[in-house]
Amino acid sequence: MAFKENFLWGGAVAAHQIEGGWNKGGKGPSVADVMTAGAHGVPREITDGIVEGKYYPNHEGINFYENYKEDIALFAEMGFKCFRTSIAWSRIFPKGDELEPNEDGLKFYDDLFDELLKHGIEPVVTLSHFEMPYHLAKEYGGWRSRDVIGFFVHYATTVMERYKDKVKYWMTFNEINNQKNTTNPIFLWTCSGVKCEEGENPEEVMYQAVHHELVASALAVKAARNISPDLQVGCMVAMVPIYPYSCNPDDMMLQVESMHDRWLFADVHCRGHYGAYALKEWERKGYNIKMEPGDAEILAEGTVDYIGFSYYMSDAVKTGVNEIDPTNIAGSSASVKNPHVKASDWGWQIDPVGLRYSLNMLYERYELPLFIVENGFGAIDVKNEDGTCDDDYRIDYLGAHIKEMKKAVELDGVDLMGYTPWGCIDLVSFTTGEMKKRYGFIYVDRDNEGNGTLERSKKKSFDWYKQVIATNGEEV
Ligand code: BG6
Repeated sequence: MAFKENFLWGGAVAAHQIEGGWNKGGKGPSVADVMTAGAHGVPREITDGIVEGKYYPNHEGINFYENYKEDIALFAEMGFKCFRTSIAWSRIFPKGDELEPNEDGLKFYDDLFDELLKHGIEPVVTLSHFEMPYHLAKEYGGWRSRDVIGFFVHYATTVMERYKDKVKYWMTFNEINNQKNTTNPIFLWTCSGVKCEEGENPEEVMYQAVHHELVASALAVKAARNISPDLQVGCMVAMVPIYPYSCNPDDMMLQVESMHDRWLFADVHCRGHYGAYALKEWERKGYNIKMEPGDAEILAEGTVDYIGFSYYMSDAVKTGVNEIDPTNIAGSSASVKNPHVKASDWGWQIDPVGLRYSLNMLYERYELPLFIVENGFGAIDVKNEDGTCDDDYRIDYLGAHIKEMKKAVELDGVDLMGYTPWGCIDLVSFTTGEMKKRYGFIYVDRDNEGNGTLERSKKKSFDWYKQVIATNGEEV
């Protein structure tokens, strides 16, 4: 058998994309609550506070806040061993800078984790998944302020202490490296609560915010060790491997340079210091990234226990190309379409072999356990008259990726902890705010404008995934 006996099969979501109840139980607004709905090629608007008459899809999400028991029962029916979600920071600290947590918010997650555990499902929790308190973004400029380190560590310590007997697996910042793409403001906003001012260099601002996050992440790891030796804290990076377009040595070097943008974040999380290439880049560009005495020690001491990562697609770069393709969400100005792979309706390149490649690259580089905490196929699903949905394309996508991940374990010896496909139940898309970009095994009756009954129904992939789990990945 390729996968370990206790392999963590499950599904993944994030609080702001499913919970709804955006102002219930004392929750404060988060950065996700001021983002309107967009579409493929139409950016989401980030408004100044909540503006009447605008539609904010995350306000209601799929109402998991009130429906979680029914949803967890469906996850249990599929045989989930784990469920990855996040804690909405602003449910616990509505503004972010309070000393005392909001008990109603804490109680909600107590109940949620108890419900999971009742079904034998291990909670896997991200501390910050694009949903920091809006107040911190507005009043402090988000993570550009060093003060936010203290607020985050207080929040992280509060929840890890509270749930230490219920939650073993934690991750600090979701896809911390997304914000390397500063051409689309959504990434700096959601990762760091940062908006750039006229005349600022977004990249320099980004590196400063990231430094604060990396210090905060390391402090959270250190805090976890004091709270309980059982806790495992990972990082979470978006792994979009970059291929050279050709074997031209210049393309190869361009690939190496482009991958620095991906490695920088995981390098600090896993090795406890910045790569030499990063320091050289800052020197070359004249960036002044402020660090305090003691930061280097904190980074060195707070390295992660495992690497959580998302994998959806690969990218390719070609020398001489210098044009941003706005539809290539994970690309750079040197990115080109890879003629060997197809793409989804949203332009995400479908490349299962790229997952095996990623697993190899990450494991060779860090030799830490790996956890695929997101992978999935966003597609337009059509419901049949009898309520079923034939999402064979999703089965094909996930099946092909599971086969490659199996090879990485069986043939390459990668230490893989688990697999949680993204959006195991339909949810609000992060990049576009749409509902029609669906990932789930479970269909949710809701459209892009917020109409629908929110009723849940099983897609064809539901029974398929149930069988994958039941056979521990032997029948795909
Ligand atoms: C990852 C995020 O970027 O990809 C999720 O961690 C997100 O929050 C997922 O939803 C898929 O992206 P999208 O834009 O299709 O929802």
